[in-house]
Amino acid sequence: MLKMSADICKVLAAERAIELVEPGMKLGLGTGSTASKFVDLLGKKAQEGLDVVCVPTSEDTRMQAERLGIRLASLDDLITLDLTVDGADEIDENLNLVKGGGGALLREKIVAMASERMVVVADHSKFVAQLGTFPLPVEIVRFGAKATLQMISEAAQDAECFGEIELRRLNGEYFVTDNGNYIADCNFDEIAEPETLSDVLEMLPGVVEHGLFIGIADQAIIAGPDGVDILEVDDDDE
Ligand code: A5P
Repeated sequence: MLKMSADICKVLAAERAIELVEPGMKLGLGTGSTASKFVDLLGKKAQEGLDVVCVPTSEDTRMQAERLGIRLASLDDLITLDLTVDGADEIDENLNLVKGGGGALLREKIVAMASERMVVVADHSKFVAQLGTFPLPVEIVRFGAKATLQMISEAAQDAECFGEIELRRLNGEYFVTDNGNYIADCNFDEIAEPETLSDVLEMLPGVVEHGLFIGIADQAIIAGPDGVDILEVDDDDE
């Protein structure tokens, strides 16, 4: 098997995704190291004259897109989008995802759900048999954050999920999202029932949103040493 760096795989996936972009499209721009490869390629196309208008999913992506001269709009201006291209922390065979490693899961989910299509770009390390090895990020309000951690822990047991839940820190301080909230990282190791976990988390008042993307992605472009694989959801199953 050829040795290929994750970085090269991310570029290969982004190159395939850029082929989906057509003039006049309204695009959602994801967040993270893989999505940023796509934004770089889109920036080149925009400089060559491609006319698209984009909604970024984070302030980081907004700054990158602005630097590259990509035309931006707010989601409130556009309401719906044609296509969102974003990365993921984990992808299973049903195209269910764990997202939020970069802390942008709330805007990422709003933008993805406002899009006719969501395409995930990833290197092969993100494809997993079962979600949960990557700690599940949950965006929570700051008020009563520790009480919310306790509620998450108890509610998750209904979905057979157990493990340490901790507030994310950055440089010794609690990490604060672009929306002014905290992230609870849930070390469940395995999430056998993603739908049940999603349902119980959504019941909790302190939870703003969680990083399980269930039934949202339409396609995943996964690049590895053996080439690029395209995963699609079977429309008959929807
Ligand atoms: C950002 O909040 C995340 O959802 C990212 O999409 C995810 O963490 C993937 O990032 P990388 O492409 O950097 O692995």
